[in-house]
Amino acid sequence: MDKLIIEGGIALEGEVPISGAKNAALPLMAATLLARGRHGFSNVPRLRDIRTMQNLLGHMGALCESGEELTIDTSGIATLEAPYDLVKTMRASVLVLGPLVARYQRARVSLPGGCAIGARPINLHLQGLQQMGADIALEHGYVVATAKRLHGAAITFDQITVTGTENLLMAASLAQGTTILRNAACEPEVVALAEYLRKMGARIEGAGTEEITIEGVTELTPATHEVIPDRIELGTYLVAAGITHGHLQLTRCRPEHVEAVIRKLQMTGLKMEVREQSIEAWGTGEIQSVDMKTWPYPGFPTDMQAQFMALMSLGNGVSLITEQIFEKRYMHVSELRRMGANIEVEGRSAVVRGVGRLSGAPVMATDLRASASLVLAALAAEGTTEISRVYHLDRGYEAIEKKLAAVGARIHRVRDIRGA
Ligand code: EPZ
Repeated sequence: MDKLIIEGGIALEGEVPISGAKNAALPLMAATLLARGRHGFSNVPRLRDIRTMQNLLGHMGALCESGEELTIDTSGIATLEAPYDLVKTMRASVLVLGPLVARYQRARVSLPGGCAIGARPINLHLQGLQQMGADIALEHGYVVATAKRLHGAAITFDQITVTGTENLLMAASLAQGTTILRNAACEPEVVALAEYLRKMGARIEGAGTEEITIEGVTELTPATHEVIPDRIELGTYLVAAGITHGHLQLTRCRPEHVEAVIRKLQMTGLKMEVREQSIEAWGTGEIQSVDMKTWPYPGFPTDMQAQFMALMSLGNGVSLITEQIFEKRYMHVSELRRMGANIEVEGRSAVVRGVGRLSGAPVMATDLRASASLVLAALAAEGTTEISRVYHLDRGYEAIEKKLAAVGARIHRVRDIRGA
């Protein structure tokens, strides 16, 4: 397994272009199952999870070609199954469930295992499909869903779920009649999916609010779409500017997608100049300790919690961080402690007492955003940090060592010749 070696203590200076959003591209790729033919996507990030979704669609019979654009031809879909060996590496594979049942009346999708950040069940996805008329059976670790034709329903999520909203939005697009999704997720990635579905001919109102109404149609047609910029990558590099007391120009981004993060980082003392498609950020030497609670969009995103904790590790006081979305998204705490951070987890909260400095150490990545927080801590730490299991990082951060090296970071990758 590859490692990243980082020499810390350097203030980053320069421009970082933000890539397309993984969590926007994945549902768009699943949506191609709703319409046979050739779909085209631009600004698709080159990431491990994107390749996994390409492999999954290829397994079903789609033809995926990635060059400047990603084209997906679903004319040859023949297998309506998402096998365990693919789903276990990427939970977002469950996004094929709704489209398969809606378009092909059947799906056999492996149940995702739990993961480092929580149990992450898909009961709300399944309950919604049942309300739309699907028969759901669980056998041998697989969900088997069948339906003659899905029909509209009034569905209220008892918990906000991003991929649950996306799965049912796609299923409802081809259902007979009207579906109303209440307590729906409002994330920009949901809005982007609805925009693509509408291009394909779907009738959707209210995406981006907690109530979405979908009038099912009988057929959808392939289209093309540009993937929105990655708001979590953007937030991660904003923290990089603050934690290294550097000066970064973040380009090709959508600042309106990170308002809660901008507000919170301003409170920590980070200076920012926000323009239409870029943010200039510079650290001011002192990092103010501030409290933070994660919340569904437009609140402070859970996917930025670990990165924010790395910043607070060097705060000038005490910060109370509360993770309200996942039950155990604190796998990064023990690793940050190895670098000298003073963090105590109490239930859903973590008390972060700022320390004067972090020191480089060998640490291990456990999940995508935990690994990002270790990179940030390493950039600020004195000495050398060696981060193992960086395949977690490669799932969600395109060319991270190139982007960081281009703004002055001393970072390089040691490839594991065994290629694990
Ligand atoms: C999406 O995951 C993102 N992934 C996650 O990003 C992100 O952390 C999460 O939303 C929250 O914002 C993608 O979009 C591919 P949820 P998702 O369903 O949809 C519970 C990253 O780092 N829940 O919104 O799987 C669940 O256990 C990843 O890029 C149920 O109980 O998350 C969790 O506690 C990590 N039953 C909460 O809801 C269900 O049926 C939110 O989960 C569904 C969810």
